[in-house]
Amino acid sequence: MREGKLPQKGRVLRIQKHLLLQVFLLFGLFLVFSNTGLEIAESKEHPSPCLQPRFTKQAPPEMYDFNNPLEANPENYKKGKLLFQVKANPLPCKNCHGMMGDGSGPMARGFNPPPRNFTCTKTINGVPDGQLFWIIKNGSPGTGMLSYKGLKEEEIWQIILFVRQLAKGYSPNF
Ligand code: HEC
Repeated sequence: MREGKLPQKGRVLRIQKHLLLQVFLLFGLFLVFSNTGLEIAESKEHPSPCLQPRFTKQAPPEMYDFNNPLEANPENYKKGKLLFQVKANPLPCKNCHGMMGDGSGPMARGFNPPPRNFTCTKTINGVPDGQLFWIIKNGSPGTGMLSYKGLKEEEIWQIILFVRQLAKGYSPNF
């Protein structure tokens, strides 16, 4: 009798271990799927919230207070728009920030914090040109914001001209 009971006890323990594993597995699957569900819900081109907390570091003082030296004319504006929406390397800004700069680009949902919503005057008006320049050039480590060291200074200022206009309302031609 005694000898018969021991293996029985061992089996019960093994089954309990098995059950525990299954519960963990199911819970894991639940987490994965509930998360995916959330991402699908968010992928419908939702703009980033207005008045966003900023995680970007502040530019050095000599850069921070710098104003855009370019003339705000249609030519510079169009070049900035083209870089933002199509040409900038490694990725056009619109992939994250959206065609019209509201933070609803196709890659936006992958990032926390989300890409900046440039149409939100409450966020963007408090950020000086020099700060925008510095972040575009150097990126924002620890966030999705890439560095664009390959762009010429003039090109970055052209992009900034376009970005500033977004807060006043998107316009195809300036
Ligand atoms: C891969 C995604 C991605 C791409 C591409 C991208 N950005 Fe960003 N960007 C982000 C994210 C995410 C943030 C938010 C970082 C934060 O909150 O600090 C951000 C923030 C910014 C900021 C805010 C700086 C500040 O101090 O508040 C500026 C300006 C900016 N991006 C400009 C650009 C421009 C211009 C381009 C194209 C030349 C571009 N970004 C391309 C993801 C991206």
